[in-house]
Amino acid sequence: MRLRNVKNAKEIVSSSRYSIDATNRIDIDALFSNENPIHVEIGMGKGDFLIGMAEKYPDINFIGVERYESVLVRAVEKLEDKNLSNLRVVAMDALNIDGVLPKVVSVIYLNFSDPWPKKRHAKRRLTSEVFLKKYDAIFKSDAHIIMKTDNIGLFASSLERLSQYGYKFYKVNLDLAASDIDNVLTEYEKKFMSLGVKINYLDAVKNREK
Ligand SMILES: C[S@@+](CC[C@H](N)C(=O)[O-])C[C@H]1O[C@@H](n2cnc3c(N)ncnc32)[C@H](O)[C@@H]1O
Repeated sequence: MRLRNVKNAKEIVSSSRYSIDATNRIDIDALFSNENPIHVEIGMGKGDFLIGMAEKYPDINFIGVERYESVLVRAVEKLEDKNLSNLRVVAMDALNIDGVLPKVVSVIYLNFSDPWPKKRHAKRRLTSEVFLKKYDAIFKSDAHIIMKTDNIGLFASSLERLSQYGYKFYKVNLDLAASDIDNVLTEYEKKFMSLGVKINYLDAVKNREK
């Protein structure tokens, strides 16, 4: 994502009532005060998907992870006029996610993740084994990843990695907009759809190892 130098982004993000401090492990009970399932979006960008999902599903708690405050600040600004008790955001690199989130997560969303097309950068893809191991540490029970992307290279590599890692595919679709799959649009998705680009989608589950 193109970064703009947003003045005071760090201060604006950290002072938002929606923001979680990433320096300590999160106390989930104190955060949401209910037992509702927790869904996490990694690389949430400017927040359209997460905000749309939190509005649509008030009985699910959503946590958005974004590594750049200069991007996250846009989501925080959109949230200012809203009153969503089931949404929080955290500025951090997902590489640290297992140090911040306890084993409470039901679903992880990966929307239009950076493709890192070069082989030498494959470990940086959010579906590389490096990240899949981190996700194992935060899933409450079965591991459940829902992904969408315009990028066929990232999609193919994700199918391969997830499959090798023990995930089974519940749904795979190569034209999300033409399907009847329940969907909330992201910023990137809106842009790609306006250009007629087809969106790839997968919904994959790995049963908890006994
Ligand atoms: C291409 S943008 C997509 C944004 C949004 N999900 C959408 O669909 O419109 C990818 C986002 O993922 C974030 N990101 C990439 N790697 C990350 C990581 N390791 N941890 C947290 N965020 C990450 C980037 O900063 C960027 O904002």
